[in-house]
Amino acid sequence: MGGRPGRLLVVGGAGFIGSNFVRHELVEAGAGDVEVLVYDKLTYAGRLENLHDVRGLGGFRFVRGDVCDEGLLERVVGEFEPDAVVNFAAETHVDRSINEPAPFIRTNVLGVFTLLEVLRRLGGDTVYLHVSTDEVYGDLWGVEGEADESWPLNPSSPYSASKASADLLVRAYGRTYGIRYRIARPCNNYGPYQHPEKLIPRTIVRLLLGRPATIYGDGGQVRDWLYVGDTVRAFDAILRRGGDFEVYNICAHQYATVKSVVEAIVRLMGRDPSRDIVYVEGRPGEDRRYAMKCDKIAGLGWRPRVSLEEGLRATVEWYTGNRWWWEPLVDERYVLAEKPWRPGGGP
Ligand SMILES: NC(=O)c1ccc[n+]([C@@H]2O[C@H](COP(=O)([O-])OP(=O)(O)OC[C@H]3O[C@@H](n4cnc5c(N)ncnc54)[C@H](O)[C@@H]3O)[C@@H](O)[C@H]2O)c1
Repeated sequence: MGGRPGRLLVVGGAGFIGSNFVRHELVEAGAGDVEVLVYDKLTYAGRLENLHDVRGLGGFRFVRGDVCDEGLLERVVGEFEPDAVVNFAAETHVDRSINEPAPFIRTNVLGVFTLLEVLRRLGGDTVYLHVSTDEVYGDLWGVEGEADESWPLNPSSPYSASKASADLLVRAYGRTYGIRYRIARPCNNYGPYQHPEKLIPRTIVRLLLGRPATIYGDGGQVRDWLYVGDTVRAFDAILRRGGDFEVYNICAHQYATVKSVVEAIVRLMGRDPSRDIVYVEGRPGEDRRYAMKCDKIAGLGWRPRVSLEEGLRATVEWYTGNRWWWEPLVDERYVLAEKPWRPGGGP
């Protein structure tokens, strides 16, 4: 597809990465000549507060709906006639997927199937940008090298298994029905508007509340950390210059262990890592290392711009200055609890 699409249907656009993408499209990349319709169920993770500064803009529309609601989705696609559909809608917290996998299978697998069926019937030439994850490649601990886009899918958690299942469905719909998909697989994202159940905001919020930061296990898990402002530019590059039926890894090659990231935040916030971090039992089956090759997306002219140090600083500043945004999201189980919460306290 040449150029950027004029009408974007952003499914799950009220969550963390989705809302940052919508802001990028409406305010920066396509200011004035793009229409965005956000379709979102507004689960615990999706909030209109995430879009508070763009909701009044001319090109913005919102429909509350479930990605599994075929009838409503069909009406929205039929009326809006999007040039591209970008799908962020998912259950996303690995800890929750261990405690209660069913919503992950429903939204992340059945939801994608529903969307593909609607596009098969009504999509015409619509491009489908499917948001996947580096977690579909599974644990690369002890494995030489980094996963490229043809690396086998080897998921470990109910979350990553649901995401890998969706990727397979998307590819099958491309091959069988000609759906013009592009799959994006970003690494660990962080930045403004991320729910405080996730590691980086949880650490910042806990410290702001005067509690110690927590690390699950020994903190030796290696992740590649990408600032969300960089990720959304990558999605824009894939929409503008990407190829149909292609998969793109999106990464920063800014590898750091969970321990070193938490320690960096503790120091940035003027605390002492030897006093203000507690180590608690890890979660079952946790992957030790993710690592991807990202030459393909570099070929679209995209590079990350924000270093981990700058990104962490900006994120700490944002959470410090936006208590109104995160205070209603602080819960006992996934933010305040010192160890991973399990129903009945089991493993
Ligand atoms: N955050 C990361 O580090 C990361 C990394 C790689 C990939 N991803 C992928 O990026 C996408 C977005 O992640 P995020 O961190 O922004 O997630 P998030 O949890 O912050 O947001 C998910 C959004 O989807 C919506 N949603 C959930 N179920 C829905 C349903 N049934 N129907 C309609 N909307 C529904 C929620 O209301 C919310 O707005 C996901 O597909 C995730 O797998 C995230």
